Amino acid sequence: MPCLPNLKSTIFFSLLVLFPCTSWAFDYLQPLPESPLIPVNNPLTKAKIALGEKLFFDTQLLGLNSSLSCNSCHNLAQGGSDNSATSVGQGGKKTRRSAPSLWNIGLQTVLYWDGRSISLELQTLDHLRNPVISSWNSIGSVVTKLNQSAEYRQAFKDAFKDTSSKDNPVSGINIARAIASFERSLMTGKSPFDRYITGDKSALGESAVRGMKSFNDTGCLACHFGVNFAGPAPGPALKMGDGFYELFPNNLGTFYEKQYKLADDLGRYEYTGLPDERYMWRVPPLRNIELTAPYFHNGSVSSLEEAIRVMAETQLGRKLSTSTVTDIVEFLKSLTAKIPSVGNAGKEQ
Ligand code: HEC
Ligand code: HEC
Repeated sequence: MPCLPNLKSTIFFSLLVLFPCTSWAFDYLQPLPESPLIPVNNPLTKAKIALGEKLFFDTQLLGLNSSLSCNSCHNLAQGGSDNSATSVGQGGKKTRRSAPSLWNIGLQTVLYWDGRSISLELQTLDHLRNPVISSWNSIGSVVTKLNQSAEYRQAFKDAFKDTSSKDNPVSGINIARAIASFERSLMTGKSPFDRYITGDKSALGESAVRGMKSFNDTGCLACHFGVNFAGPAPGPALKMGDGFYELFPNNLGTFYEKQYKLADDLGRYEYTGLPDERYMWRVPPLRNIELTAPYFHNGSVSSLEEAIRVMAETQLGRKLSTSTVTDIVEFLKSLTAKIPSVGNAGKEQ
């Protein structure tokens, strides 16, 4: 692979600044790490992961008579999403955007399609205050409810016994810390792609290898690079809370834009109000993408083939041949890993 992808746009230059490839090598294609970066103020422990897991699957967390749990919209056994364009929340209310997969979510520096949440802990609290997700009228109500359970009181006590909150462990922030810990443990195993780039050249077929080359030659890798194909993971290049954003659609006025209503949602602009952020979106991860149709923030595209054609044209002004699309599909399918039954990383700690 060349050191820099060949994309003729401003992104190319911003990447040049981010990753000068003269003095140190930066690999655009990287294998999945064993574990994401763990924040010092919320160390990963077995007890916290177990509590987070229990909360994640518990309908009580989201309302007194809730039929929904976190897993309803982020179905971990189904690749981490619910395979719907938008999800049905409390009282039949619909979410505005498509529910993303939570597998390998600890590798993202910002959360949500528009990156408006800067940590998994804050994202959990934000969801718990959202009436589409939770029918409790406040986080205080869910804390009171959990405090009534001897089992939860004990689980929170065990999970937070070494912290300054040990005397009052059932709290909104500790719910968020436990769920975020569980989410950081949601790492998939190695995919055929990971085996290939760590030396097993038999792991990919010819079409997938051609697709990997086309993914670079077409310019996809300029945006979808790094361990999660979503730009830098939390670390030296981007701190947690700093997002990697790009315009989508990059080219306005395409047939696809109208057909799939891609420009109806103004992206980050709707949150920040900054004119420069009209149509700015977080570059989303592509691992396990085969499992999480339909695609894009509005879930408007149901097949991976079509999503690739849309990206090539709206982002890069390119029309791809059928065989190139097929090869890129094969490459993207090589990013599918075996999905563990639940969170795995960090359980030994
Ligand atoms: C009714 C469906 C629904 C339920 C229930 C739900 N979520 Fe979500 N979740 C969504 C949608 C939709 C988004 C994307 C919203 C956006 O980007 O604006 C999202 C986004 C997220 C994200 C950010 C993902 C990313 O790629 O940035 C995380 C993390 C998350 N949810 C965790 C949870 C947890 C934990 C729970 C339980 C407390 C939960 N969700 C319950 C629908 C749901
Ligand atoms: C200029 C940056 C950029 C380039 C180049 C680019 N993408 Fe994307 N890609 C994005 C952004 C931003 C999104 C999120 C779009 C949205 O908000 O719906 C995205 C979304 C996607 C999705 C849907 C993800 C999901 O979870 O629904 C796929 C698949 C994808 N890109 C593949 C590709 C392929 C294949 C190429 C090359 C043909 C490519 N991308 C080129 C920035 C880019």
